[in-house]
Amino acid sequence: MIEVRCHLPSVAEYVALTSAVGWPAPSEEACERALAATVVSVGAFEGTRLVGMGRVVGDGAENWLLVDVVVDPQHQGRSVGSALIDALETEVSNRSPGSTVLLFCPSRAVPFYEGLGYEAAPGTFMRKVLSTSPERPGRMDDPARSGRACGDPSVPWQRAAPPPLRPPAIP
Ligand SMILES: CC(C)(COP(=O)(O)OP(=O)(O)OC[C@H]1O[C@@H](n2cnc3c(N)ncnc32)[C@H](O)[C@@H]1OP(=O)(O)O)[C@@H](O)C(=O)NCCC(=O)NCCS
Repeated sequence: MIEVRCHLPSVAEYVALTSAVGWPAPSEEACERALAATVVSVGAFEGTRLVGMGRVVGDGAENWLLVDVVVDPQHQGRSVGSALIDALETEVSNRSPGSTVLLFCPSRAVPFYEGLGYEAAPGTFMRKVLSTSPERPGRMDDPARSGRACGDPSVPWQRAAPPPLRPPAIP
């Protein structure tokens, strides 16, 4: 029997599940930071083994982005993905009833989400791949550059940026 419950995966669990569906593994440090920024996270368990996961990131009130919805291939097609989405939606609804959940997914996963009531949203999904160089002018945490002091460590959004992650190694 598969049980879905609130669970933030460890880095090892995260890497194991994403690798199982062929997603490239980010660095351990990137995984740690990404997981720490999670707002809602659920896991699907068969006994003690994690066989599926899904997370929501965002601001906790207005913007909810569904990410990392993954079911181990051996357990796909058994309604585990649907149960994960249902659990995530329940958790988001309890925090912010009537809010909208957003996600980006590969086209092969569109029928899965459509079956759960998701629809293509009006507007255009835009993206920009930023430079791998850590040097950018006008950083908010550098008053000498931007003139805006954002260095109060007790205020989450003013905390100095952590050192930039190293760009992934090119094989
Ligand atoms: C997408 C994914 C999470 C679905 O999980 P799952 O446990 O297999 O999904 P379910 O068993 O709950 O499927 C629910 C319904 O969606 C359908 N469905 C699931 N994946 C589908 C696919 N790729 N194409 C068409 N239909 C699909 C199922 O047939 C089922 O339909 P039914 O209710 O009529 O029987 C899983 O396939 C996966 O981990 N894929 C790789 C990672 C990925 O792409 N994640 C999404 C990124 S945001």
